[in-house]
Amino acid sequence: DTVALLLAGGTGTRLYPASRSDRPKQFLALDGERSLLRQTADRVGFADHVYVATREAYADRVRDIVPEAGVLVEPAAKDTGPALAYATHRVRDQVGPCAMLCLPSDHRVRGDFEPTAETALAAARDGFLATVGVEPTRPATGYGYIEPGPDLGDYREVAAFREKPGEEAAREYVERGWLWNAGMFAWTPDAFLDAARDGPLRPLGDALDAGDPERGFERVDAVSVDYAVMEDTENAVVVPAGFDWDDLGSWDALARVLDADADGNAVLGDALAIDTADSVLASDDTHVTAIGVENLVVAAYDDRVLVVPREKSQRVRDAVRALREDG
Ligand code: GDD
Ligand code: MG
Repeated sequence: DTVALLLAGGTGTRLYPASRSDRPKQFLALDGERSLLRQTADRVGFADHVYVATREAYADRVRDIVPEAGVLVEPAAKDTGPALAYATHRVRDQVGPCAMLCLPSDHRVRGDFEPTAETALAAARDGFLATVGVEPTRPATGYGYIEPGPDLGDYREVAAFREKPGEEAAREYVERGWLWNAGMFAWTPDAFLDAARDGPLRPLGDALDAGDPERGFERVDAVSVDYAVMEDTENAVVVPAGFDWDDLGSWDALARVLDADADGNAVLGDALAIDTADSVLASDDTHVTAIGVENLVVAAYDDRVLVVPREKSQRVRDAVRALREDG
C-alpha cells in the first residue's frame, strides 16, 4: 500500500501577522481559493491512505479541511522529527508494511507532481530514505541543501545533507551544484524507524516501542527531522523534482509567486500604491496606502501591522519569538 502523510502542525511564524498560531499558514488560502493544506491533499489522490499529523489545537480544523484523512495528533509539539517518528509508528500499526510519502503542507506546487512522487515511493520500496531535490535559484538560508552523489538510475545517492546553512555556506553549495531539500520524504516505516533509532529521537523510539508515546514526548527534545535523521543517515537518496516548487515560507517568497502588477507590487486585499515598486501590500480588512517606497512589506491583519524590507523578511521569525516572550 501507499500512504500519504501530510504534516500540518507548524505555526508558520514567518508569515506573521497573516499567519498566527491560532490560524497558521497551512490553513490559509494565500495564493488562491483553497488553503495550502487542501491543495496538498488534492495532490495525493493516488495514495491508498491519507493521514495528517498535527497538534491537538489544530485537529478539528484539519478534520474540516481534509475529511477523508486519518488525523494523528502528537502528544506534544516537538517539531517534525518527533512528529514523523510518532506518525510513522502509528501508520505501521494501522496499515502494516507500506511506502509512505511525507509532505509538508506549506508549499506551492505547480505542474505534474505524481511522477516524482511515484519515483520517491519506488526508492522507498527499495529501502532508501528518499528526499526530493529542487534546483536552487538563490543562496537561501531557510532550506536544507543536498549534495547529490552517484547516480542510481531514477535517483541519486545523497552524499551530504546540510540543514539551514549560513549565507556563506549556502552560496558555496549553490555554486557546487547542490540541491534544495523540498522537505518531502518517502520511506517504509521500518527504514525510517531504524534510522531514527540512533541520535536525538532515540528516547522517543524506545517509548514508542514500549507503547508509551506520552513519556517519549516528555523525554525527547524538539528537533526537526532534517537535523535528527537526514543529516546523519547514510541511506538517503534524492529524486529530482519534476514540478515547479516554492516554499511560501516568508513574505518575500509569497511576493515571488503572487501575480505582481507592472511595478512589481504584490497586493493581497485592498491597497493603493503610488510611486511604489517591488513591494508587498497585504491585509484583511484594513485598506493600505503606500507612497514612494520600494522593496517593502506592509502587512496588516487583525490589530497587527508588520513593516519590513523584503530582503529582511526571514527575520519576522525572530520578531514573533520576541512578541511571544513579551506575551
Ligand atoms: N505535525 C507536525 N508537528 N507538523 C509540523 C510540526 C510539528 O511539531 N512542526 C512543523 N510541522 C509542519 C509544518 O506545518 C510544515 O508543513 C512542515 O511540517 C515543515 O515544517 P517547517 O517548520 O515549515 O520546516 P522548514 O520550512 O523550516 O524546513 C523544512 O522544509 C524546507 C523546505 O520548505 C526542511 O525540511 C528544510 O530542509 C526544507 O528545505
Ligand atoms: Mg516550511
